[in-house]
Formats: sequence, C-alpha cells, structure tokens
Amino acid sequence: MSTANSSLFLFFFFFSIFSCIKSDDLQILLKLKTSLQESNTDVFSSWVSSGNMSNFMGITCNSDGFVKEIELSNQKLTGTLPLDSICQLQSLDKLSFGFNSLHGSVSEELNNCTKLQYLDLGNNFFSGAFPSISYLSELRFLYLNNTGVSGVFPWKSLENMTYLVSLSLGDNSFHPAPFPNEVVKLNKLNWLYLANCSMEGGIPSGVGNLTELINLELSDNNISGEIPAEIGNLKKLWQLELYNNLLTGKLPVGFRNLSSLENFDASTNKLEGDLSEVGFLSNLVTLQLCENQLSGEVPAELGKFQKLVNLSLYTNQLTGPLPQELGSWAKFDFIDVSENLLTGPIPPTMCKRGTMRGLFMLQNKFTGEIPASYANCLTIVRFRVSNNSLTGIVPAGIWGLPKVNIIDIAMNQFEGPITKDIENAKALGQLFAGNNRLSGELPEEITQATSFVQIELYNNQLSGKIPASIGELKQLSSLKLQNNRLSGPIPVSLGSCSSLSDLNMAGNSLTGPIPSTLGSLPTLNSLNLSDNALSDEIPRSLASLKLVILDLSKNRLTGQIPESLSIEAYNGSFDGNPGLCSQTIGSFKRCSRDSRMSKEVFTLILFLALGLMILLVSLPICFYLKKREKDHDRSLKEESWDVKSFRELMFSEDEILDSIKQENLIGKGGSGNVYRAALSSGKDFAVKHIWNTDTTTGRKKIKSTTPILGKRSEKSKEYDAEVLTLSSIRHVNVVKLYCSMTSEDSSLLVYEYMPNGSLWDRLHSSNKMELDWETRHEIAVGASKGLEYLHHGYERPIIHRDVKSSNILLDEFMKPRIADFGLAKIVQANNGGKDSTQVIAGTLGYIAPEYGYTCKVSEKSDVYSFGVVLMELVTGKRPIEPEFGENKDIVNWISSKINSRKSVMSIVDSRIPEVFKEDAIKVLRTAILCTARQPNLRPTIRSVVQMLEEADPCKLVRIAINKDDSTKKMEAKENEKTNLDP
Ligand SMILES: *[C@@H]1O[C@H](CO)[C@@H](O)[C@H](O)[C@H]1NC(C)=O
Ligand SMILES: *[C@@H]1O[C@H](CO)[C@@H](O)[C@H](O)[C@H]1NC(C)=O
Ligand SMILES: *[C@@H]1O[C@H](CO)[C@@H](O)[C@H](O)[C@H]1NC(C)=O
Repeated sequence: MSTANSSLFLFFFFFSIFSCIKSDDLQILLKLKTSLQESNTDVFSSWVSSGNMSNFMGITCNSDGFVKEIELSNQKLTGTLPLDSICQLQSLDKLSFGFNSLHGSVSEELNNCTKLQYLDLGNNFFSGAFPSISYLSELRFLYLNNTGVSGVFPWKSLENMTYLVSLSLGDNSFHPAPFPNEVVKLNKLNWLYLANCSMEGGIPSGVGNLTELINLELSDNNISGEIPAEIGNLKKLWQLELYNNLLTGKLPVGFRNLSSLENFDASTNKLEGDLSEVGFLSNLVTLQLCENQLSGEVPAELGKFQKLVNLSLYTNQLTGPLPQELGSWAKFDFIDVSENLLTGPIPPTMCKRGTMRGLFMLQNKFTGEIPASYANCLTIVRFRVSNNSLTGIVPAGIWGLPKVNIIDIAMNQFEGPITKDIENAKALGQLFAGNNRLSGELPEEITQATSFVQIELYNNQLSGKIPASIGELKQLSSLKLQNNRLSGPIPVSLGSCSSLSDLNMAGNSLTGPIPSTLGSLPTLNSLNLSDNALSDEIPRSLASLKLVILDLSKNRLTGQIPESLSIEAYNGSFDGNPGLCSQTIGSFKRCSRDSRMSKEVFTLILFLALGLMILLVSLPICFYLKKREKDHDRSLKEESWDVKSFRELMFSEDEILDSIKQENLIGKGGSGNVYRAALSSGKDFAVKHIWNTDTTTGRKKIKSTTPILGKRSEKSKEYDAEVLTLSSIRHVNVVKLYCSMTSEDSSLLVYEYMPNGSLWDRLHSSNKMELDWETRHEIAVGASKGLEYLHHGYERPIIHRDVKSSNILLDEFMKPRIADFGLAKIVQANNGGKDSTQVIAGTLGYIAPEYGYTCKVSEKSDVYSFGVVLMELVTGKRPIEPEFGENKDIVNWISSKINSRKSVMSIVDSRIPEVFKEDAIKVLRTAILCTARQPNLRPTIRSVVQMLEEADPCKLVRIAINKDDSTKKMEAKENEKTNLDP
C-alpha cells in the first residue's frame, strides 16, 4: 500500500519535474532568446538553459512537456523572429508577439506552425510582403494589424480558416485590393478589422453572411459604391466604422435592423438621402455622419434614444428642427450639427446630466434664444452657435462658464450686455461675438479672464469705457472692438499685452491721446484706430513698430506726423486729421519748425527730471529684486529633485540648477521658460523650467489637451506627455532630451542646445536671416522626416499637435529638429487613430479645420500644420498677416492666388533667386495638398517626404507648373463655399 503510494508520488514528482523539459523545445526557446537579446527587457531572465521551461516567463507547456503557448506581447522586444525554429515546436497553438519592435521579414516557415489557433504579430516593424499561411487552418484569432508589412496580402490563405473568430489586418500598406471574397465565407467571425489597409471597390453583399459580427471596421480605405442592404442581417453588430471612404448612395432599407448597433460612424463619405433608417437604431451611443451629402430632417426618434452621448452630423444638407428632447437621457457629451440648414430652437436639455462638453451648431438657421439651462452647464468646453438667426439676451452664466475655451456666438441677433460673470471664465481663450446687437459696458471683470487670446466684439452696440486694466490679459493676441459706441481713452495698460498682434478699435468715440505704450508691443502688426475722436500728437514710439496696417485716419490728431511713419505704405493712414502736419507728405500742411523745437526742448527737460527721479526711486527696488532672485535660486537648490536620465549625462544636477537665472533666459517656450546652460564640460544645453502650479501664466488655456482637467495640473500633464514621448524617441530630426528633473513645485527638462534658434526666428523675427533656398529645402525635408518618424516610426503613431515654425529648431548646421512635445498624443491602439472628443490644440494659423469640430483629429492634422510651415518657407510670410485680409490666413490667401501662373510666382518669397522659383513652387504644391480642408485628401507625411525629396533643387529638375491633379484639387478647394475659420 505504502509502496504503491510512494511510487505514485514519485511518478507525479518526476512527471511534474520533467513535464516541461523537452530538450528540443528548450533549444528552440534558447535560440529565440538569442535572437531577441538586444531587447531592453528582463522577461528572459528566467529563460536559462538549466531551468524548467514551465517557469520561463511567457511560456506555457502542455501536459506532455511540449511548449504550447508563447505569449510575449508588449515586452519591448527588438530583433528578428526565428520562425524557422519556432515553428518546429510541435505543439505550439498560440504565438503572441504583438506590440513590440520586431523587424525583418515574416518568413514563410510560419506556415509550418500548423497547430496555431492564436497568432498575433500586430503592431511591430516587420517589412516585406506577408507569406502565404494557408496551412494555418486551425486559427481562431489572427492579429496582423499594423505589422509594417506591405505588398500583396495572401488573401487566399484565409480560405480554409473556417474557425476564425477575430481577423485584424488593418493599418498596413498593402497593395490596393478589393474587399476579399475569402472573408465573407468566414461565418464564425465576430471581429473584423480591415481599416486603413488600401482596400478599394465595393463592400460585397456577402458581408451579410457574417451574422456573428459584433465589430466591423472598414474606415480609411477607398471603398466605393453603396452600402449593401444585406448588412441589415448583422443583428449582433455593435460597432460599424466606415468613415473616410468613398461610399455613395443612401443608407439601405433594412439598415434599421441593426438593432444592437451602438457605434456608427460613416463620416467623410458621399452618402446622400435621409436619416430615416437611423431613426430605428435606438441603442446608438455615438452617431457620426459628418461630411456627407445627407439631406432631410433629423428623425424625431433621436430625441428618445436613451443611450446617445455623441451626435456628429456636421457638413451635410440636413433641414428642419432638431428633436427637442435630444440628449436628455444619457450622459450626453457633444453635439456637432454645424454647416447644415437646420432650423428651429436649440434643444434645451442636452446638458441635463451635467456632462456636456461641446455644443457646435454653427452655420445653420437656428432661431430662438440660448436656453437658460446652458448657463449652468459647467462642463462645457466649446460653445459655438455662430452664424444662425438666434436672438434674445445671452444668459449671464454663459459668459462665466468655468471650463469654456471658446464662446462663438458671432453673426446672430443677440442683445444685452456681457456680464461681470466673465470673471469666472478662467479658461476662455477665444470670444467671437462680432455682428450682433450686444450693448452695455465692457465689464472691468473681463480682465480676470486671463486666458484670453482673441476677443472679437466688433459690429455691436457696446458703450462706455474700455477697462483700464485690460493690460492684464497677457496672452491677448487679437482685440477687435471696431464699430461699437465705446468712449473714453485707450487704456495705457494695453502696452503690457505683449502678445498683441492685431488691435482694432476703429469706428468708436474714443478720446484722448494714443498711448505711447503701444509702441512697445513687440509683435503688433496691425493697428487700426481710425474714425474716433483721438487727439494730441502721434506718439513717436509707433515708429519702432513694424506695422503692416496702420490706420489713424478720421481722428483729431495734431502735430507732426513722425518722419519714419511718412512712408508710402501708410498712405492714407493719417487722412481726416486736419490738425496734423508733415514735412514730407504733400497733402498735409507743412509743420512750423519753431513750435516743435520748443516743445522738444521742454520734453527733454521733463525726461531728464523724470530720469533722475526714477533712478533715485529704483535703486532700492533693484537691490530688492536682485535679492529675491538670489533667494529664488537658493530655493531651487534646496528642493529635492527626482532625476531621470535618458542618455549618458555629462553634467551634474547642481550645474543645471545654477543655470536657471534671468541672464540665461533664451526663450519662453510653449509651457515654460527656457534657459541656456553653458556647462563646465564646454557643452551647452537648453533647460526648460516648468512650474507645476496653475497660477503661473503659461500656455494658452485653449491648448488644453483634454477638456476634463483631472486632479493634476494641466502643466504637469503636458510635462508628462513631453517626457514620455521624448524619452523614447531617437531620431536626428527630433530634439534630444537628456534628462528630466522633477521636484514638488517645478520640473526641468534638459535638451540639447540649438544655437540657431527656431525656424520662426530665422524667418520672421527681428533677427531673421537670409535663408537661401537650398537651406530652406533641407529644413523642409529634415523636419518632414522628423514628423514621419513620429507618425510611422514609433510603436504607436504620435500626433505632435503643435507643429509650427517656432517648434522647429535649428542646430549649428541649420539642420532642423522637431521640438516641444507638450501637446503630443500617442494614438491609442483601440481607437483606430481617431480622437473624437478633441478640443482645440495648437496655435492659431496652424490649426487644421477639423479641430474646429469634433470629428477625428489624426496624424493628418499635423500634416496640415506642416503644410502651413512649408508655406512660410516658400513665401517668407507668417501664417497670419493682415495683408491676407480679415479672418484670412496663409492657406486662404494662397488658394486665392493660384489661379494664374503669374500670381503663383508672385507669392514666392522675393529673396529666393529666380532659378529656384520652380523648385519653390513644387514645395508650394505639396504645401497645398497638405492643407486640403478634408483630412483624407491630405497626403501622409511619408509621401510628403517623398514629394519634398523630389523637389530637391540639386536635382535641377524643372517642370513648369501645369494643371495636374493637385492644381485641380486646389481649384476644387477654392470653389468650395467659403468656410468658417476654425
Ligand atoms: C517547413 O516548411 C517548408 C516549406 O514551407 C518545408 O520545406 C520544411 O520542410 C518545413 N520544415 C519543417 C521542419 O517541417
Ligand atoms: C490590433 O492588434 C492587437 C494585437 O496586436 C489587438 O489587441 C487589437 O485588438 C487589434 N486592433 C483591432 C482594432 O482589431
Ligand atoms: C482549402 O481546402 C480545399 C478543400 O479541402 C482545398 O482544395 C484547397 O486547396 C484549400 N485551400 C488552401 C489555400 O489551402
């Protein structure tokens, strides 16, 4: 009895010891370990030749001691896969290597893994074509999305995979092919992901056989034709993604039978007809049909959908009213029905659950008032109802919504005042309220909405004084108050709005002198104070501005027009001021010398006296400031710093901390000050200092990355984004991050130092330099490669979201590097590259139109911004210049110039020599493609790199600009009805 027991015990003992030591399998695993040895991972530490395979991390053996599963997804693996040996594992039924950095080709020995039920090679950097795998007929799960492979996919291999449940082949640049017929026979499929893999032709009606499907994703292809009626058979379908294709026709009859459908997106197609079928899909959570040609009314049933949270129907031809109960059931998030022909009132209860973030109803024919309920909707981030026929008084609370980034109510018939509630609008960056009937005074409290970047209140009936403390709006870049009834003086404090570039107060009743402080605004380029009652002399300080528009006409100005302003460009700028005199402009009376002289002497004496006083008063202040600066330094050093380094460090913590002082300040970056650290080693670094508190004035709030601010401050989120992104990137055209240091109060990022500053500085700033065309072209190619790396070269695509010339830095050889990843966003694996709850990000002038709405922000949005940078390189102009006209940017301006060859040539920067102009035009053409209004018409950054390389001036290929596809597209774009700026 006991012998039997112990032998049984021994049997089990040996069995378990030897259960996973088949020596052939062990050798195969060790070989696998060797070929992945470069990986930065410790999963292999348990893989030792003397060990037991069942203890190998990621390995499962079967009861006979053979390797059954290899599960090594998401392990930072690099290297190539020795499939020839792996597929000698006789019992292998699961092979999972997703989300790694494997490269090389996928060899055809994969076909020997005949027992596989689960294969995941997705999200890697493989190359070459994918081999035939027709022997893998046991497969249940096949994940090959975003593998990096290209060429013709062996669709035929799928023919006998009758057990297949999940098939994921999307995000690969396969050779264009029609929807594979093999797939419609796989009737056990419940997951089919074929987005973004170059499919063309129609959707076969056989798709109706796939009745087990819960997810069908075909977005981002070139699929044409109509949606087959048979799709209505898919009773279990939960998600249907068809966006960004070429689908035509109506939603088929029977579409209503998709009774389980929760997410439906067919945006950016050419669908027409009405939405009557959609009215039956009562389980919908998100419905996105923007950018189609849909017409008819929005079905009343939508008002009863209990789960609906997102509704995006912008840019269609929908008519009639919206169901008034819309959005009142679930935690409604956003509505975007802009650019339709909708009528009737705004549904009043979309924020009933207190969760709504976006209300976009611009450019329709809505009537009635803004429902009072929205004044209490504290979650709103973007409120846009411009260009409708709305009336009544704007509910006071709207002005003070605490999270609102943008209030756009322009072009309606709103009345009443802007109330002092606006002091609560701490996140408000843009207020567009022009062309209404707003009245009353501008509340002093407006100056407490310190995130303001743009204020447009023109063509209203506002009266009273402009708040004297308006200078507290430090980030204000555009202030348009023209054609109101404002009176009193122009506030002197405006001189401290150091970002102001556009100031228009024309057509009011302003009195008093023009404050000389306006002359110290470094970036002002348009100043219109015409048609007021301004008096006194024109301050000489204005001469130091580089204004493109200066209009002081129709005032009561007196004295001499400063010599330096008496130039042709300002012809007419001073008309209608009978008191002005000039020595040079004929149409004015000549100034009498004497009176001026005495005045000047008087001024001189006054200045001397003032100077002396200031000197006396300021001595103690300076002393005090010095002292404070010192204290500040010390406090930095006293903090304890958490240092993370990403490259070999050649400096000490103290050396870096010592460099954070005023005299080393080289710039104010997007999210903090940047200092130059010249270290004892002789090497220079740039150090970005970011305060973690919310109180510092930092980046414009409109750039907030997510509409919901969590516990952590926005700034620290930006910081995290930047560190996360940059620490793992290595590319010659992306700025190098050496280390990050964090303390409780602030964070430091140490980068390589870029002696030539930014492309913006070199092109537009006061110390711009002559950039020859070859250099400009090299910068274009280099920067595009940096961006290409972000979009295509990294594990997940990274969307930079703030591509602009000031974020392209130049090293000592003028080689460009992409910088400032404060807004970068790594595309999540499961959202197919779209981000539908995007709020505005980026910088005015570079922002792609889709940011203005709610649909899909993708890599293509970066492509748009990069197109703007290319336009700057070609034209030498800034993205927004007053010469482009009201509300026009460089993109609109260029598209208005491309109708003839002559005017095209005229926009090329005159500093570019004639021989290179054709090359410049080629780059311009690429730029125009990049800035297509529709994201899907823009090329990928990869093809931008190619186009730019082809425009290499050294090749000396010169092709006359002819009416090819791109010019046709330009024309089409031009003919599009003028669109709202985002
Ligand atoms: C693997 O497959 C190839 C052909 O695809 C074949 O020549 C080879 O013999 C197979 N190897 C094994 C070990 O089965
Ligand atoms: C893509 O592949 C991964 C595995 O690599 C899988 O987890 C994911 O679900 C796939 N995505 C889609 C949309 O099918
Ligand atoms: C699929 O199975 C059929 C019938 O067994 C066979 O004739 C055919 O060759 C198989 N196809 C592939 C690609 O292996």
